[in-house]
Amino acid sequence: MANRGGFSSKLGFIMAAAGSAVGLGNIWKFPFEVGNGGGAAFVFIYLIFCFILCLPVMITEIAIGRKTQLNPVGAFSKLGFKGWRNLGKLGLISGFLILSFYNVVAGWAFGYFIEILLGNFEIGQNFSAFTSNVIKVGGYATIFMVSTAFIVSKGISGGIEKASKILMPTLILIILSLVAYSFTLEHSIEGLKFYLVPDFSKITLPVIYGALGQAFFSLSLGMGALITYGSYVGKNDNIITSAVLITLTDVGIAFIAGLMMFPLVAYMTEGGVAEYVQGGGGGAGLIFSTLPSVFEKMGPTLGVVIGSLFFLLLSFAALTSTVSLLEVPVSYVVDEHKVKRTRAVWGVAILIFIVGIPSLLGNGYSTFFTEFVTYFGAEKPTDFMTFIGHVANDTFLPLGGFLISVFAAYVWKKASLSDEISQGYPNYKGSIVEKYINFTISYLCPTILGVLFILTVLDRFFSISVVG
Ligand code: ALA
Repeated sequence: MANRGGFSSKLGFIMAAAGSAVGLGNIWKFPFEVGNGGGAAFVFIYLIFCFILCLPVMITEIAIGRKTQLNPVGAFSKLGFKGWRNLGKLGLISGFLILSFYNVVAGWAFGYFIEILLGNFEIGQNFSAFTSNVIKVGGYATIFMVSTAFIVSKGISGGIEKASKILMPTLILIILSLVAYSFTLEHSIEGLKFYLVPDFSKITLPVIYGALGQAFFSLSLGMGALITYGSYVGKNDNIITSAVLITLTDVGIAFIAGLMMFPLVAYMTEGGVAEYVQGGGGGAGLIFSTLPSVFEKMGPTLGVVIGSLFFLLLSFAALTSTVSLLEVPVSYVVDEHKVKRTRAVWGVAILIFIVGIPSLLGNGYSTFFTEFVTYFGAEKPTDFMTFIGHVANDTFLPLGGFLISVFAAYVWKKASLSDEISQGYPNYKGSIVEKYINFTISYLCPTILGVLFILTVLDRFFSISVVG
């Protein structure tokens, strides 16, 4: 433990893990997924997934990390037989692929900070031109990856913990101010209705698996991050309360990001929220197309201050997530291949950046990557970044969650999981919490995640809809 480093305090771990969870997933991805999923019905399913299925998976991941004090690959092979290493590798690959495109979107966020600081509010209308400008976005993405690698090279308590402690509360504050502002605008009520009043007839299979992928992505599950962070947690920490706090923080911030976004979209579109978010204005460009004109309406000075601060803090939130995603392969290379930390950090960062280049090119610059693949039975092609999202995020993460629950319940065994959790939570054994965790991990997660994984693959990639 001593030479791997560790979090200096319980709060340090919670802040860093919440920093991993809170990121572009909450503020960029959540609102457009809600838009694609038809509004409040998606939010409803998402909340159920977060608290019923994902929270127990999070607890299990942290417990596995703390028990083994190893990276995901080493952790699974230490607790199970050798073949389970591959489950660690699945998490590693998922995190790797996610970071490759996440870094590009983080580059957009950082680029918006600079553009709005320079008073360029037109950037919202010019989103497509901006994302296809590979020199600019490539430059911003490079700055982002270098910053991530720099923080990770500083080690656990030196870099990650310090950065999370300062930046997270500031971000929450600015989003809350924007929520308050958005409520004062005309048509805000229509935005809130779209976001909060569910129309259950809108729940279709794509809405369900979209919400599941979003829950895993946002909580940083199935990508090895929380196993890795768990490996740096002290034995006296209560894993259950930590996981509950991390989940509440993450879900809370996504929720308030929605409270901010939908009244703003309603204001911009004079109430036409559904048409806008499901038409040309929605998708990955939602916050990037909408927010600059909102900031512009605040007036030249206030708009520049609030707008640039927003995108700067969004970049910081993304940074605490990219840091956790880079930490996964780095801890693997350091633990399993005995490479020096600094060398591992820079080597892996360069590799991920290179793997992310098609995501950078696939937003209008290169037709090949912009129209990368047409799924069986689909009408339109899918760009490279979206494709990687479908594979790594919506498919691999729930698959990882399914396998982690099967592993914990039937290979490592529930009793061992309970032993690990009870360190730091002496009354755990025999409690209702233990019964609930054991039930979810043994039955609920394997069944629901397993079935949804199969349905997702059939529906998304082969257009075979078994239900609906
Ligand atoms: N959990 C991280 C996010 O939501 C990846 O941005």
